[in-house]
Amino acid sequence: MKRIGLLTSGGDAPGMNAAIRAVVRTAIYYGMEVYGIERGYAGLIEDRMEKMEMRTVSDIVHRGGTKLRTARCLEMLTKEGQEQAVATLRRRGIEGLVVIGGDGSFRGAKCLTENYGIPTIGIPGTIDNDLEYTDYTLGFDTAVNTCIEVINKLRDTMNSHERISVVQVMGRHCGDIALYAGITSGAEIIVVPEIPYKMEDVISRIKRSREGGKHSNIIVIAEGVMSAEEFTKQLQSLTKYSVRATNIGHIQRGGSPSMADRMLAAQFGNKAVRLLKDGIGNRVVGIRNNQIIDMDIIEAVSMEKRFNYELYETLQMISL
Ligand code: F6P
Repeated sequence: MKRIGLLTSGGDAPGMNAAIRAVVRTAIYYGMEVYGIERGYAGLIEDRMEKMEMRTVSDIVHRGGTKLRTARCLEMLTKEGQEQAVATLRRRGIEGLVVIGGDGSFRGAKCLTENYGIPTIGIPGTIDNDLEYTDYTLGFDTAVNTCIEVINKLRDTMNSHERISVVQVMGRHCGDIALYAGITSGAEIIVVPEIPYKMEDVISRIKRSREGGKHSNIIVIAEGVMSAEEFTKQLQSLTKYSVRATNIGHIQRGGSPSMADRMLAAQFGNKAVRLLKDGIGNRVVGIRNNQIIDMDIIEAVSMEKRFNYELYETLQMISL
């Protein structure tokens, strides 16, 4: 394979730039050309791309966001859109495609592979950590670290005022950001889509913590359950505690990637190009048990994300 395309798609995630750098430089190492496609599948359909060189990807390893920019592209779900995307690839002589994105982006890659025979490699780039086949997605670690920083600050003021802080984190339908941020920031309670909650249990847990000498509490709620604002209203109406809502929002999608995310980016990007170089497509890369792996893209997107109940129980035991 002599010429490949590269795009970032869906919600951006810290580490995407570092992965772009790894893809471009690995490809150049093997004498391949890389075309950077702007704005995800939308740019592919509209034929917006530029050849990337060693220096095109200088000074981005530490930057959040994505240099290629990104978009959620509904057109890619239509036959017409897909045919236009394929036509661009053929016209440009692009033989393989690296897609950095989440579940939706992988479905686009799967379609190019399955229906049009274009070899694609998916790199999991989303803060949500909602892909079952990989232990971690790119951006998740940085996003959770950002949540921890915010919660540290909230903890100071909540403690002074003896309040309860309800903190909303992202994750779409997946509770992983809430679970990991909750356990590592010492939150007493997490509320996630995977586990139905009862408000009376939440209140009795807060009571127990106060009786045990705590002056404030942190509740981390995943956006897939409800907003912090709504949860705060419900909780406030049932207790005399002072409750405040915070939505961390898009702050958790930005910022310089952590060491863990930069390392994943380097390894994922490198592996993706090595596969294409060997003529292997239709795969996604990931990490499992600390090993970089690759897997059939069709199998990967059909796996259902499982929640880590053991970690949830750990939080229940150590956070009161
Ligand atoms: O998939 C990443 C994500 O940040 C989700 O956690 C969130 O639900 C969604 O994207 C927000 O999308 P947007 O930036 O389009 O509002």
